[in-house]
Amino acid sequence: MQQEHLFKVLVVGDLGVGKTSIIKRYVHQIFSQHYRATIGVDFALKVLHWDADTVVRLQLWDIAGQERYGNMTRVYYREAVGALVVFDVTRASTFDAVLKWKDDLDTKLTLNHGKPVPAVLLANKSDQMAVQQSKLDSFCKENGFAGWFETSAKENSNIEEAARCLVEHILANEESTVMDRDAGSLMLSAYTKKSKDRLKCTSCANS
Ligand code: GTP
Ligand code: MG
Repeated sequence: MQQEHLFKVLVVGDLGVGKTSIIKRYVHQIFSQHYRATIGVDFALKVLHWDADTVVRLQLWDIAGQERYGNMTRVYYREAVGALVVFDVTRASTFDAVLKWKDDLDTKLTLNHGKPVPAVLLANKSDQMAVQQSKLDSFCKENGFAGWFETSAKENSNIEEAARCLVEHILANEESTVMDRDAGSLMLSAYTKKSKDRLKCTSCANS
C-alpha cells in the first residue's frame, strides 16, 4: 500500500547563511549570487519518492535570519517535525548563533512524547572554506544534533544527503509514535527496530 507523509520542516540560521539558496537549489535546482534577505517566512514544497511504497512531501519553512530577534518564531515553529540549522563556514558569528537557534527550537517546539524535534546542522558555503570535522562531530553530540553536513548551495553539494538524514530521523519518530499507541504489537516493534537499523547517515552520531 502506498504511504504518503507530509512533514513540516524548518530551515533556520542567521542572516545570509544561505537558507534560501539551499532551498532553491534543493527544490528548483537553481543558484544565484544575488542576496535578497527573506522577510518573515517563505515556503517551498519538495516531493521525495522515498521508496517503492512511500512518498514524502516536505513543506520547507524558510525563516528569515532576522526573525531570531522577533516574537514570531513560536508561531512559525508550530507543528514542525524537523529542522535544518544552517551556518556560514566563513563567518564565526553565524556558528555561535547555531546554539541560539537550537535553544529557540527546543524551548518552543517538542514532539508528542516531549522529545525535541530532530535537527541537522549544515555547514554551508563549504566551497569557500574547510571545516574542522572533529570539532563538529563533538559539537553535534554535545548539543543534540542528529548530524552535520558540509554543504554548498553554489556547488550543489550534500544538500540532498542532509535532507535525507533528517527525513530518516523524522520517519523513525513517526514509527515510534505508532508503536506507543499500540505497544503490544510485536510486528510493529520489529519493524521499528529494522527502520532504526536503517539510520545510517554517516555523521548522525545520535541515531
Ligand atoms: P536571510 O533570508 O537574510 O535570513 O538569508 P539566507 O540565509 O536566506 O541567505 P541567502 O540564501 O539569501 O544567501 C545569502 C548570500 O550567500 C547570497 O548572496 C548567496 O548567493 C550566498 N550563498 C548562499 N549559499 C552559498 C554557498 O553555498 N556558497 C557561496 N559561495 N555563496 C552562497
Ligand atoms: Mg533567506
